[in-house]
Amino acid sequence: MSNERNIILTGDRPTGRLHLGHYVGSLKRRVDLQDSGDFDEIYILIADDQALTDNVDNPRKIRDNIVNVMLDYLSVGLDPDKVTFCVQSQLPALHALTFYYMNLVTTARLSRNPTVKAEIQMRGFADEGLPVGFFAYPVSQAADITAFDANIVPVGEDQLPMLEQTREIVEKFNRIYGKTLVLPKAVIPENETQRRLPGVDGKAKMSKSLGNCIYLSDTPKTVKKQVNGKMFTDPTHLRIEDPGHTEGNVVFTYLDAFCQDEDFVEFLPEYSCLEEMKEHYRRGGLGDGKCKKFLINVLEKTLAPIRESRAKWEKDIDSVYDIILSGTNKAREVTNGTLHRVERAMQINYFEDRTIVKEWENLLKSQH
Ligand code: TRP
Repeated sequence: MSNERNIILTGDRPTGRLHLGHYVGSLKRRVDLQDSGDFDEIYILIADDQALTDNVDNPRKIRDNIVNVMLDYLSVGLDPDKVTFCVQSQLPALHALTFYYMNLVTTARLSRNPTVKAEIQMRGFADEGLPVGFFAYPVSQAADITAFDANIVPVGEDQLPMLEQTREIVEKFNRIYGKTLVLPKAVIPENETQRRLPGVDGKAKMSKSLGNCIYLSDTPKTVKKQVNGKMFTDPTHLRIEDPGHTEGNVVFTYLDAFCQDEDFVEFLPEYSCLEEMKEHYRRGGLGDGKCKKFLINVLEKTLAPIRESRAKWEKDIDSVYDIILSGTNKAREVTNGTLHRVERAMQINYFEDRTIVKEWENLLKSQH
């Protein structure tokens, strides 16, 4: 068992392009983990099967967004030499593991998963009827994680219930069948802003349907439009001279997440740090327009190189294809290996060698 190795697995549903919320919440962290050199393997799973559990009538959307998500990964600096990118549906071991793990989980336990509960409400499944596949996706996620022997799973806070269920499945499996699976640990973003970057409108989270996202692939013009046209500031800060609030002011939330002291030297030299700028805003005398202009410069410092890199990759989709293909082939080997181990532990490896012939013969003898 490859217990002592440090293996990361994480993933995303390919349902759309990735945005700044994904960037601060997970992509940046992944690049840091990749560059730390502390891990033996890093796998990133494009969870198309999971995406299909609530997009059954729209397979095209999932197919199309595999390339978008891959381009977002590559353009933020995830390096195919250090990270294995793979596609869930093309790893049949995951399906088999899911089926076996389903016997270790009760419907009552699945019904208590708070993330799934919220998603059921949001998607209207409570009224229309709940697809079994959607209801059971935490089990398939446990298969994803354990199939790679991952011990570290960097995820958003909303994924903690999945990790909790995975750990329960691992513990139950190991108790019944002997120690076979690695117990994984979730790693969540350090601070509140990373955990939940609000949408530009101040709504809790960036979401495609609310139109409050800034995508990594947005043009400078769109970024400007989102910030200048839509970004929520302080409704009580009517005139520049009025005192303003920085708490709950999205411009400052984004600055908290993105701005560094060097940015002031470059774009707003009258302040030396964000705290000074905030003090001026609270005191009165600093206008929203100026703050937004600074924020746009700060965001562009992150976004411009990503956009540039994306443009290069977009011209070379053949290479993108080869990267996911070879990653998926490698992942297939690894996950098949785990499935084998699981089948052996569950005593369903009938055709591995002919030892079962002897076993059956002895059994029959004892029955006579
Ligand atoms: N549920 C995750 C999400 O919605 C995606 C996912 C699928 C995942 N399989 C995973 C995340 C395994 C971590 C590990 O973002």
